[in-house]
Amino acid sequence: MSSDPAATPRFAIAIDGPAASGKSTLARELAKRLGLVMVNSGAMYRAVTWKALQEDIDPSDDAAVIAMMDRIDIHCGEIGVTSNITIDGVDPSPELRSEAINANVSAISAIPEVRKRLVDLQRNYLDHTSIIMEGRDIGSVVFPDTPFKIYVDADEAVRAARRTHVGEVDSVAKRDAADSEREHAPLMIADGAVVLDTSHHTIESGVDAAIEILKQQGLPDLDKLTPSA
Ligand code: CDP
Repeated sequence: MSSDPAATPRFAIAIDGPAASGKSTLARELAKRLGLVMVNSGAMYRAVTWKALQEDIDPSDDAAVIAMMDRIDIHCGEIGVTSNITIDGVDPSPELRSEAINANVSAISAIPEVRKRLVDLQRNYLDHTSIIMEGRDIGSVVFPDTPFKIYVDADEAVRAARRTHVGEVDSVAKRDAADSEREHAPLMIADGAVVLDTSHHTIESGVDAAIEILKQQGLPDLDKLTPSA
């Protein structure tokens, strides 16, 4: 890779899509192939939900959640090539896929004040590295100007089966409806995004298809990338 920081400006690849569409796997594998940091924005909304539940705050009580946001310290960084988050110095990652968090995260993520704080932290990553970020509003709100946008989808039955397969209790359809119907930054296909349906892809063929899309969107040759410039 070139070591000239001016060769390629920092950039973000936006991967959005509904629950269990395969976007995390795709983003992780793409990040490995392209040598970029992978940022899981959903983990940030999950971490705030974890904190609210820990403090016995009702996730649908916007005022109480906003008051909590004002007093907590949120740090987003990365360990190796994967994002991580701490809240008041605690890394909640082992807890983030629980049934309680799956059931409550959509209420928390619908609160605009929560989104504003987390979107600022998401954008901060570009201050020091190029990234692949996955979520719901990355191509529409967080990095609307990036040319690199993929909307990952899969049949609903395939998505539900994927969750059950990993032993997670998650009402995928209910969460998707809430995420798509909310007023602020709903799940949508962003302007310029190309839809990639992973229903019948293997991980490997899905990554190949994504790289083709990114090349068509103008992603520079891999050997010209300077991800941490
Ligand atoms: O992994 P999965 O697709 O199940 O979900 P996730 O990416 O971990 O996101 C969990 C929840 O966070 C979503 O259901 C949304 O409510 C919220 N979220 C969001 O609102 N905006 C994002 N950019 C990412 C996640």
